Amino acid sequence: MYPELAGRVVLITGGASGIGLAAAQALAEAGAGVVIADLHADAARDAARALGDAHLGLGGDVADEAAVQRIAEQALARHGRIDVLINSAGIPDSFLPTLEQQVGDFRRLVDVHLTGTYMMCKAVAPAMLRQRRGSIINLSSIAGVMGLARRNAYSAAKAGIGMLTRTLGCEWAAQGVRVNAIAPGYMLTPFAQRLIDEGKLDAARIRRRTPAGRLGTARHIADAMLFLASDRAEFITGVTLPVDGGYTAWGAASDAYGGPLD
Ligand SMILES: NC(=O)c1ccc[n+]([C@@H]2O[C@H](COP(=O)([O-])OP(=O)(O)OC[C@H]3O[C@@H](n4cnc5c(N)ncnc54)[C@H](O)[C@@H]3O)[C@@H](O)[C@H]2O)c1
Repeated sequence: MYPELAGRVVLITGGASGIGLAAAQALAEAGAGVVIADLHADAARDAARALGDAHLGLGGDVADEAAVQRIAEQALARHGRIDVLINSAGIPDSFLPTLEQQVGDFRRLVDVHLTGTYMMCKAVAPAMLRQRRGSIINLSSIAGVMGLARRNAYSAAKAGIGMLTRTLGCEWAAQGVRVNAIAPGYMLTPFAQRLIDEGKLDAARIRRRTPAGRLGTARHIADAMLFLASDRAEFITGVTLPVDGGYTAWGAASDAYGGPLD
């Protein structure tokens, strides 16, 4: 669908699982060379190997500045350029009441999501600015645009990613580097499945609250990423695109979906 993506180089953090992995598969199918960077080095290498010889898997913590620099350098050493950066590395928050939360957990969450996204953008931008072309896609969340009790750190980090996306989008637009974010609703990935299994999310309740009446899939997000990565999105920068089955559009007091929950 986007022939220009063939031969482009895509670096994906958190690419060993869920949304990042679906993006890696979709971009590899489109002919891009994919570099997967993940906290779990073995999982990153396995995921890259499964995509084929043209792809690379790397270990690294996006909250660690030296590791971030190493990831960018290794991707550039392999391909000589980076055309697309997808910041999908992430961890869930504790879901505890605020008074029971640990400040260390708050800091770690902000470090991984917000500071990690900032540092990855900063590490990859010099190459993109030299090329005068690049597309950065960050992961926000419905939690970054709506208030969800007990989710302080995650929500603050995701809202921060929305503003970071705007500020960087404004700074680099004239040099051909676009910065956008996607705000997924509830997508059935290992991340969300774990929260459902632990009783932290109620899948039936979420379906009733979602106009589309179902949870999304990682592929729904990957499809939006293909568009934002492509030249068809060349005049789009600084936006946070909800991909949530209408979740954030809904404002009435009643359930959004009254159909069967099979
Ligand atoms: N699944 C959802 O419903 C949903 C909704 C809104 C936003 N998101 C966001 O989308 C992104 C991806 O979520 P997912 O559902 O694919 O989760 P996932 O758990 O399936 O995948 C996340 C990946 O990030 C990696 N990771 C975690 N911490 C890291 C670190 N410090 N450095 C490098 N890699 C790290 C993990 O190892 C894992 O492979 C996250 O930012 C998440 O907050 C997900």
